[in-house]
Amino acid sequence: MANIAPPAARPANPRFSSGPCAKRPGWTLDGLSDAPLGRSHRAKIGKTKLAQAIDDTRAVLGVPDDYRIGIVPASDTGAVEMAMWSLLGARPVDMVAWESFGSGWVTDAVKQLKLADARVLEAPYGEIVDFAEIDFDHDVVFTWNGTTSGVRVPNGDAIPATRQGLTICDATSAAFAQDLPYDKLDVVTFSWQKVLGGEGAHGVLILSPRAVERLTTYKPAWPLPKIFRLTSGGKLIEGIFKGETINTPSMLCVEDYLDALQWAKSIGGLEALKARADKNLGVIDRFVSANDWIGFLAKTPEIRSNTSVCLQFTAPEITGLSKDEQDAFAKGVASKLEKEGVALDIGAYRDAPPGLRIWAGATVEASDLEALMPWIAYAYEAQRATLAQAA
Ligand SMILES: Cc1ncc(COP(=O)(O)O)c(C=O)c1O
Repeated sequence: MANIAPPAARPANPRFSSGPCAKRPGWTLDGLSDAPLGRSHRAKIGKTKLAQAIDDTRAVLGVPDDYRIGIVPASDTGAVEMAMWSLLGARPVDMVAWESFGSGWVTDAVKQLKLADARVLEAPYGEIVDFAEIDFDHDVVFTWNGTTSGVRVPNGDAIPATRQGLTICDATSAAFAQDLPYDKLDVVTFSWQKVLGGEGAHGVLILSPRAVERLTTYKPAWPLPKIFRLTSGGKLIEGIFKGETINTPSMLCVEDYLDALQWAKSIGGLEALKARADKNLGVIDRFVSANDWIGFLAKTPEIRSNTSVCLQFTAPEITGLSKDEQDAFAKGVASKLEKEGVALDIGAYRDAPPGLRIWAGATVEASDLEALMPWIAYAYEAQRATLAQAA
């Protein structure tokens, strides 16, 4: 590839971070002016807003009526930890991971909860665990969309509808962009800061009737801090699933989430959100197909994420470098793009193989990705020139 000039067009919005993700198109702070600030979240106005957030979540995601939806503390991590600490231990568990966040949940089960009956199934970055290997009569903890590798579960076909175990699914970078088969999932968690471009700090915990049954019939052997407690006196704390949060939420964040859900509804709901992410992936896919020096980290199209899209530099002159040199090269490309103001925060996750990670969820405009692609070629070429100089 010859030296190339900086592209003429620039993305109107350079925010391609994988979380917190870009705000919805047209978002302004003025849109939050209806937030009941300085009021108690337990006053009618606060409770109404929280209940609305739950109802709109159900409507947009298509969550079954008999599943509970709760707003919980500490973002997606809080929701996952709450589920793991409250539910695991009743039967053996298969801990399934193919990137950094999934591996984090493995660590919790094995090293923190010290579950004796934990079986660990892992795949390297770019690949996915063979779901046929999983024993669904065990509890199963897994991530639907591995944000740091850009590898997602293609569908829920391998999960039996009748299973003895509970499936606990971290779906934070999948919810609102990918189909989630609720009949196959007993716990689904996500944070507002991902596909809808909301704020961090609050998590959403969705529970199937079977998960609720476990909660009310099983008491873990370990103590549970107040912040994790979903039951009281052996009964589900139903209030959590009606907007009576365990502790104080930010009503500004709630208002922002309501704004995002309203936008989602206005463009056509889940189908429209998925279509936007798919279209965005299509832009990147065309660029990758047209350039032989860049490739997806995800090995096959079926497992390729349409939200956290992870790319690697594949030319032999780059793959022939040491791991540290490849890392420096990829960081150089990301930093050039940031300096040019055309892409913020798109370096690969710190534990992932060197490369780029571009968020393509619903709040990102395809036109911005179209404008970004030639800049990646430009930054790549500029970084190659520094290699040649150093040689
Ligand atoms: C798959 C996955 N799980 C968990 C988290 C942690 O999310 P939070 O910071 O919202 O708790 C992230 C954040 O990127 C993630 O991508």
